[in-house]
Amino acid sequence: MTVSDQEKQSGKTNAAKMLQRGGFATALGALFATLGSAVGLGNIWKFPSETGTSGGAAFIIVYLLATLLVGLPVMISEIAMGRSARANAIETMRKVSPSKKQPWWLIGAGGALAAFLIMAFYTEVAGWVFAYIFKSISGSLLSTDPNVTSQAFADLISNPWQALLWQWVVLVVITIIIIRGVSRGIEATAKRLIPLLFVLLLIVDIRSLTLPGAVEGLKFLFTPDFSKLTGATILAAMGLAFFKLSIGMGTMITYGSYWKDDQNIPGTTTRVMLADLLVSMLAGIAIFPAVFAFGLQADAGPSLLFITIPAVFASMPFGGVFMVLFFVLAAVAATGAMLSLIEVPVAFLNEQFNLPRATGAIITAVLLALIGSLAALSSSVLADVTVFGKNFFDLFDFLSSNILLPVGGFFITVFVGWFWGYDKFRQVLTNRGTLKNDKLVRAIFLLIKFITPLLVLVVLLNGLGVF
Ligand code: TRP
Repeated sequence: MTVSDQEKQSGKTNAAKMLQRGGFATALGALFATLGSAVGLGNIWKFPSETGTSGGAAFIIVYLLATLLVGLPVMISEIAMGRSARANAIETMRKVSPSKKQPWWLIGAGGALAAFLIMAFYTEVAGWVFAYIFKSISGSLLSTDPNVTSQAFADLISNPWQALLWQWVVLVVITIIIIRGVSRGIEATAKRLIPLLFVLLLIVDIRSLTLPGAVEGLKFLFTPDFSKLTGATILAAMGLAFFKLSIGMGTMITYGSYWKDDQNIPGTTTRVMLADLLVSMLAGIAIFPAVFAFGLQADAGPSLLFITIPAVFASMPFGGVFMVLFFVLAAVAATGAMLSLIEVPVAFLNEQFNLPRATGAIITAVLLALIGSLAALSSSVLADVTVFGKNFFDLFDFLSSNILLPVGGFFITVFVGWFWGYDKFRQVLTNRGTLKNDKLVRAIFLLIKFITPLLVLVVLLNGLGVF
């Protein structure tokens, strides 16, 4: 084995692989590892923020439909291809491709680009979370006065040096983890902490729900007003479904390559999806009742989490301690998700250009610091610089979630439905006939072949105003 092979093997940042080696309960092991990538800032930050700006319940319903009809089929496709080829995303697409001439590997390459754009703003939001750990330790955040909590957040993001510094802290942490190859440990921790995050969210939910005026928040979350939907918000809901399940760019292809042969793919992916939805809903119930109780703005966008959560904690006994714990857990969840993201470009550099993982990780981090600074400075020095009417932060978010991931998902399902074909698909999903789930597999295949790609295309073109 060459040095680079060894590096490749020892550095694999995948908890599932380790779990198999360690003989962890298989079904549960793969489920938690995959959940470790899915659960992140998407649940506690992006989901509430977009629900708030896009009109509440109606947006959530579209998001649920997108998750079922688009998200789950794409996830199943990715996991199935990865497990059948047992390789990284680009290599998987080459292997499953019926002819070497067809450029399906471009899906993997497009995924690396998407990973960069996502990381550019994700590291910034993670930076705010890291900063909030320290701010909540100092106690300066504990206030139920919206002006105070909003101001504290505005101070953080409008200070260019603080914004950059916290992003760099995040990048350094991730790079060290990737280089040292201890990510297995981190992901194992992340996955143990998900249940804890869950419990903490429940505590916040109870407090939030018992605040005077909380009902308005529940109405916002559960009474749909479909007049608020536009092509753009429907596209945003679909983009969120992609972002949430870490699909459309190869992360789940890579994860699937670590799943065991006897793992039930439809069963496990469905559980991951449901657990992920549950975390998002718990976050929504933590935040929206408080928004209305404290007279905050539901459409505050990216700042929503950071101004409502301190207010909820400020109104509960031991709030200061819980708040520190909350942001620590959020940081861990975000780190787990980021590792699965950064793995895509690092593996790409490693395999396409034969770069050692450490070099690849450092190059990636430096590039991310450069592109990411555009996102970090979007609320200060670069606030007035816009492209298509969006600042860089929003632009990266929009381009990745609402364009690159859906385009990736479109080609993934077209490939599975029309080029990979039913026989191979059935082989993988029935575990070579051992699972008696033929009817289900057939239904999923028809969804993947006809419905999902069509839906993605229509929502995408409509959302972009093409028709
Ligand atoms: N799903 C993660 C979250 O919700 C983010 C994420 C991790 C991701 N890996 C990804 C998004 C791959 C898209 C593609 O926070």
